[in-house]
Amino acid sequence: MTDRAPEREGTLGATTPPSLSYRPAIGSDHAFLRAMLAAAFDWRDDPEFDDALLASPEAAHYVDGWQRDTDFGVIAERDGEPAGATWARQLTAADPGYGYVADTIPELTLAVAPAHRGRRIGSHLLEALVVHATERGLPGLSLSVEDGNHARELYRRVGFTVVGREGGSDTMLLRLR
Ligand SMILES: CC(C)(COP(=O)(O)OP(=O)(O)OC[C@H]1O[C@@H](n2cnc3c(N)ncnc32)[C@H](O)[C@@H]1OP(=O)(O)O)[C@@H](O)C(=O)NCCC(=O)NCCS
Repeated sequence: MTDRAPEREGTLGATTPPSLSYRPAIGSDHAFLRAMLAAAFDWRDDPEFDDALLASPEAAHYVDGWQRDTDFGVIAERDGEPAGATWARQLTAADPGYGYVADTIPELTLAVAPAHRGRRIGSHLLEALVVHATERGLPGLSLSVEDGNHARELYRRVGFTVVGREGGSDTMLLRLR
């Protein structure tokens, strides 16, 4: 990939530039989460990507009806505008996601808007989501990542390990207790 910004921004807290902030996702973030769902499904930035896929049950169940009691997420904002998001939703064996592990383990979705990638926003979002999941006493978080997606490194670094394989994707799990 060649479009990475050279600079690195600081960690959450004292060294975070004032223009970049993180907050819990709320109900009115639904439209932005949908846009980030599209970015996650179309992680290759494929010009042929068909947005209609997002209306399919396999995709829609990641955001439809947001925000349920068990849904939680984090939004990154740059200069007050949403720049990236990660969120987690409990799907069930009857209607599983691509990264389904168990009914009690929410599956996460993560994406940063293209203009804001390569600045550690994705890493900070993921770390913040793990804190939220831990505070909720959840047993873990799961996800599905396709072969070739560099996000895999990010997940590994946070502690996710591969626990399954489906087609060209790995299912990864972070155990929290
Ligand atoms: C994956 C994604 C969320 C990462 O967000 P980001 O803010 O750009 O990531 P960070 O700057 O925090 O980078 C974290 C790590 O990811 C990897 N990474 C990020 N961008 C990369 C790139 N363009 N090429 C290679 N590795 C990259 C690296 O391992 C990086 O670690 P490093 O900085 O030590 O090299 C972002 O690229 C994205 O939205 N991609 C499209 C959607 C997607 O793929 N979602 C995940 C679906 S499973």
